[in-house]
Amino acid sequence: MSGEALLEVRDLHTHFFLRRGVVKAVDGVSFTLRRGEVLGLVGESGCGKSLTALSLMRLLPRSGARTIKGEVLLQGEDILKRTPAQMREIRGRRISMILQDPQTSLNPVFSIGDQLCEAFRRQAGTRPAERVREAVAALRRVDIAAPEQRIGQYPHQMSGGMKQRVVGAIAISGEPQVLIADEPTTALDATIQLQYLKLLKRLQRQTGMAILFITHDFGVVARMCDRVAVMYAGRIVECGPVRRIFEAPAHPYTRALIASVPAMSGPAGRLTTIEGQPPSLMDLPDGCRFAARCAYAEPRCRDAYPGMVRIGDDHTADCWRLAAA
Ligand SMILES: Nc1ncnc2c1ncn2[C@@H]1O[C@H](COP(=O)(O)OP(=O)(O)OP(=O)(O)O)[C@@H](O)[C@H]1O
Ligand SMILES: [Mg+2]
Repeated sequence: MSGEALLEVRDLHTHFFLRRGVVKAVDGVSFTLRRGEVLGLVGESGCGKSLTALSLMRLLPRSGARTIKGEVLLQGEDILKRTPAQMREIRGRRISMILQDPQTSLNPVFSIGDQLCEAFRRQAGTRPAERVREAVAALRRVDIAAPEQRIGQYPHQMSGGMKQRVVGAIAISGEPQVLIADEPTTALDATIQLQYLKLLKRLQRQTGMAILFITHDFGVVARMCDRVAVMYAGRIVECGPVRRIFEAPAHPYTRALIASVPAMSGPAGRLTTIEGQPPSLMDLPDGCRFAARCAYAEPRCRDAYPGMVRIGDDHTADCWRLAAA
């Protein structure tokens, strides 16, 4: 699948400027999200997935994070250059996000209905009577039974899975072209998780929106995504169609990640884990960031960053061993 580019991220750098140093959490991220696709963003905890997403939304934590370089082109327009007022127009209507911790996205003192109506007021400026009808329809769209009753309830009266559906309904209320879902199912148990993934996939088909799906779980990638971008220590190290990456992962880090997926690695109980730790984001090496953990590392891997190598149609990886000698 090689559709039209909807969102293009180019050389994005978002750092935390702290008293004890600079944390390079996002440090040269580039990828393209195409119209109507689900692109997975996968990598170990702390590699910069959430911060990449928050940079695209321009909703960075107040604790000293700044995007210092790069472009985020939404249909060719760099949204990093937009004013805060323009960003408020863009957020929700063109690009929207389901946060990693859904429980904190709902306000405990307002009813579900009030929170949905507020979203519709902001997105579409509809009249109050229409908003209630839209709120009921929105709950029905995310498979919440008896929405007319549910609408008067408060978050604490709902299960985790139901709250997550409400958060999803709010996120898509403005019919965004791009939805960022940041580990939307980590807080849910396995059955509920599966239902939620199916729901997201169905909504994606119905609306045609493109999804940037963040997860650390390659099993979820296989279920949800068309293409996948693998992130390591602040950068994308491999990107390509999901099937290709599963069949022929090119970067040693991607291979190690796939080998650590329970259902996909040989006999049960023989889970591979990746030895060692990622480098400190305060003190990144000049060379390949994975070199210290890589079984194939050569001297040149430690000397200089490999740069992106095109391996095949629509498939790239940052690895010296793949570069022409
Ligand atoms: N408030 C903060 N102050 C300083 N550093 C931070 C802060 N928040 C995050 N970081 C750093 O930024 C890096 C990237 O964080 P991010 O939340 O993007 O990781 P992630 O890939 O989403 O991880 P996870 O899978 O655990 O959600 C982390 O390694 C962390 O060290
Ligand atoms: Mg995260």
